Amino acid sequence: MQTMIQLRLIPILFILLGILFSNQSAAQIYRPSAGIETRVNVLLAKMTLDEKIGQLSLYTTDWGSTGPTIREGYKNDIRSGACGNLFNAHTTGFVRELQKIAVEETRLKIPLLFGFDVIHGYKTIFPIPLGEAASWDLELIEKSARVAAAEASAAGLNWTYAPMVDIGRDPRWGRVMEGAGEDTYLGSRIAEARVRGTQGKKLGDSDALLACVKHFAGYGAPIAGRDYNTVDMSERYFRDYYLPPYEAAVKAGAATVMTSFNDYDGVPATGNKFLLDNILRKEWGFQGFVVTDYTSINEMVNHGVVADDKEAGELALNAGVDMDMQGAVYQRFLKESLKEGKVTQKQIDEAVRRVLRLKFELGLFEDPYKFCNAEREKNTLLAPANRTAAREVARASIVLLKNDHQLLPLKTGQKIVLIGPLGDNKSELTGNWNGAGNANDCVSLREGLAKVVPTDFMYIAGCDFENPDKSGFAAAMRAAEKYDVVIVAVGEKAMMSGEAAARAELGLPGVQEELVLELCKTGKPVIVVLMNGRPLAIPQIAEKATAILEAWWLGTETGNAIADVLYGTYNPSGKLPMTFPRSVGQVPIFYNEKNTGRPYDPNSKWTSKYIDQQNSPQWPFGFGLSYTSFSYGEPKVELPSSKSAGSAVMTVTVSLTNSGKLPGEEVVQLYVRDLVGSVTRPVKELKGFQKIMLQPGETKELKFTLTEKDLSFYRRDMTFGTEPGDYEIMVGGNSVDLKKVKVKL
Ligand code: NOJ
Repeated sequence: MQTMIQLRLIPILFILLGILFSNQSAAQIYRPSAGIETRVNVLLAKMTLDEKIGQLSLYTTDWGSTGPTIREGYKNDIRSGACGNLFNAHTTGFVRELQKIAVEETRLKIPLLFGFDVIHGYKTIFPIPLGEAASWDLELIEKSARVAAAEASAAGLNWTYAPMVDIGRDPRWGRVMEGAGEDTYLGSRIAEARVRGTQGKKLGDSDALLACVKHFAGYGAPIAGRDYNTVDMSERYFRDYYLPPYEAAVKAGAATVMTSFNDYDGVPATGNKFLLDNILRKEWGFQGFVVTDYTSINEMVNHGVVADDKEAGELALNAGVDMDMQGAVYQRFLKESLKEGKVTQKQIDEAVRRVLRLKFELGLFEDPYKFCNAEREKNTLLAPANRTAAREVARASIVLLKNDHQLLPLKTGQKIVLIGPLGDNKSELTGNWNGAGNANDCVSLREGLAKVVPTDFMYIAGCDFENPDKSGFAAAMRAAEKYDVVIVAVGEKAMMSGEAAARAELGLPGVQEELVLELCKTGKPVIVVLMNGRPLAIPQIAEKATAILEAWWLGTETGNAIADVLYGTYNPSGKLPMTFPRSVGQVPIFYNEKNTGRPYDPNSKWTSKYIDQQNSPQWPFGFGLSYTSFSYGEPKVELPSSKSAGSAVMTVTVSLTNSGKLPGEEVVQLYVRDLVGSVTRPVKELKGFQKIMLQPGETKELKFTLTEKDLSFYRRDMTFGTEPGDYEIMVGGNSVDLKKVKVKL
């Protein structure tokens, strides 16, 4: 009886608290001294169901379209409390204007979250994520995310939809540009670095953004590389290769997670309880909130697992989705679903709690305008230090794919001609998902070269990207004849990769390839500079060009970074994070394949191969040349005398010598093969890497430590762990040229 009375008193207490505080400002109500949990509960008790649902709704402004627009009038929604979060709104002025509506005109004055796709820079644009991954430099990658967060938070934002950690093994899929490539281990380390960089020292600092790990899960494996297509694979494969980068990002502290558009094992990710509840929340202990991708709740109707939007919303909330991006499903139907008992009040409250907690943690209740300091915005965006960092990352992202006769670095005195549609271009350099980047802030290749080339050089386009017109070829050929060296800059347009940009062909678009091949016929040394968002299949160029640089899209400092490499101010150190195929028929192609029962034998018909193409790629994962050369010693393995949980199961040492004439950096890669397992295992898997600088003639001994976790996989009974037996340990500068040693565990 007594407990009953006490229970009845609780709502009255909250009402009294509500009356007491209703006329005060947000800052007074939510005292920083009170713990976040208490403050969340006090606020929650005051909220109507509509206001709660508003906190679970996220809408885009009309400032840029990152998907189909299905909803307008977002300002009224903010005013009514129906919209608690916005995306595609930035700059301190605009954010302040919208935040003011939320904190001055709504009943509870709950500040808005402001999200945006800050994927590789906000105003100072860094290389596309796939390009950055080619640096294999975790410190630089973290720094890039840090600068992006510092700029974005200075421009009003507090939430970015990054990092994208989807493993991508199929270059037809346009979104491979946004991730870290094909490898689980490299992808996981990069995911952690990007979360650290984005969230800074701690959430609540004025230069920290909430990270959003995406797209959970498996989005990188659509059938045939076609965006949004079905994903289906065994749970074992999924857990071994696709899930670890998401887990790594979550464990690095990522505050939010975005669901993916695809289905997995027949259930769309946005309504997939196995993914969102079992794996993300229960197995990994994720505490932040889950947001859908753009209208992905509504799209579950198209997937055919629910009859209408209302049912879709129920499936999503029951699966574990907290926030509805742009679908307006929660807003339209959640109340009715609650009335019908299809969802519970507890579920709604828990979702709201997760959102509010982060708003408190960001410090928005104390100061809703903390990211709206116009002076800071002015001083931070494109600050010289940011451009310096962008140049540093850009040059480290370039991969030297070919360098016959040591053509590169160029020597002063060689007369050069610059040809190709990307030679004097700025509009494509920021690539896709370029934040608030401006083409005009970019240094074109022509401008970059003009700063370092001692003599006059000529530029001529030769052709366009897609236009079949070849009338510019003749002038390009005439120019090539007159100069010592031809630099030809070709590639894709920025919008040819990224979302909804799958390609069925992987060559250079238009007549660019023909132009390059014609130039090669002049007999002049030809340096091809590629700018693109995915591995390309360019076998003829690979054969005929004298030198090839993979420059991805490098962002604001493109021209300076490429000139640094061409003239040797910077010795290239990038290594491919994705395999480059010889032809599109080879894809998906990736290094960590399984051996099969009939492994490749060029001399035997009945083995796993093509009759019209080699199995090997054009350039393998991990590949990249330097202006110097490196020689590897034999790897040595040591097993510890005693073993304790979490400790090393082996250490591998190898010596590396710079055997060339220039200082240079090498990415030393360690691969492992488990020779006999209870289930089939890949022929090699990356398990460690170190990037080190060596002076000419210098030798260093490198040590790698492998733990139990490094060697663990999902065994036949689906438990995660290792198995005793024979292992092959491989060390080298790419995934093919490796020194091997065997060991028994
Ligand atoms: C759809 C994309 O898939 C996602 O990556 C992005 O964050 C959202 N649109 C918001 O722009």
